Amino acid sequence: MDSPVEQQTLHPLLRARYSPAGFDPDHEVTVDEIDLLLEAARWAPSAGNSQPWAFVPARRGDPIHPTITRHLARSSRAWAADASALIVNLTRRFVDDTDLPYSDFADYDLGQAVAHLTIQAQAMDLACHQFRAFDLAALSADLAPAPGWHIVSMTAIGRPAGPLATERGRRSVADLRRDAFAPN
Ligand SMILES: Cc1cc2nc3c(=O)[nH]c(=O)nc-3n(C[C@H](O)[C@H](O)[C@H](O)COP(=O)(O)O)c2cc1C
Repeated sequence: MDSPVEQQTLHPLLRARYSPAGFDPDHEVTVDEIDLLLEAARWAPSAGNSQPWAFVPARRGDPIHPTITRHLARSSRAWAADASALIVNLTRRFVDDTDLPYSDFADYDLGQAVAHLTIQAQAMDLACHQFRAFDLAALSADLAPAPGWHIVSMTAIGRPAGPLATERGRRSVADLRRDAFAPN
């Protein structure tokens, strides 16, 4: 927290959220909880209401879980395999019923959907750690998404255990206002 305004008024769900560096390996999430997280993603805004997102949830113990964990990088394996669930996040980078070859907004929209999911998780006393540290080509080959769909990232979900994942410093609000317009 770097400004008095932020400290006073930032919503508690946003203030409390962080990406944990470890998860409780004994904690379990239910299918209903996963469905509620996906419901939150479902209500995210998207360009033209295109909803270009899809998710592959894998609770620890589900048959698909090892298919996913075998592709984790060494760095993420250390904590992501303990999470109660992993969700693979996919996007579809095409625009139906147009001549456009590519959607500029598909990945943007997926990010918003995952952000919705993340805050819903926080409200359910669960923590999320999004990550890209996995073998994308190998995971894509195993999951074989339909044509046009691309795996972008994963979200590990569960009860946090251990410290913060990373240094959580943030640029100031003043920087956010001016950085894109500052001379090089
Ligand atoms: C698209 C994306 C990819 C990320 N990839 C990784 C990753 O590969 N490994 C990791 O430990 N954290 C990863 N993170 C988590 C970020 O490092 C983390 O969100 C950031 O440091 C801010 O910390 P905070 O979430 O606690 O606020 C990723 C986050 C996002 C949104």
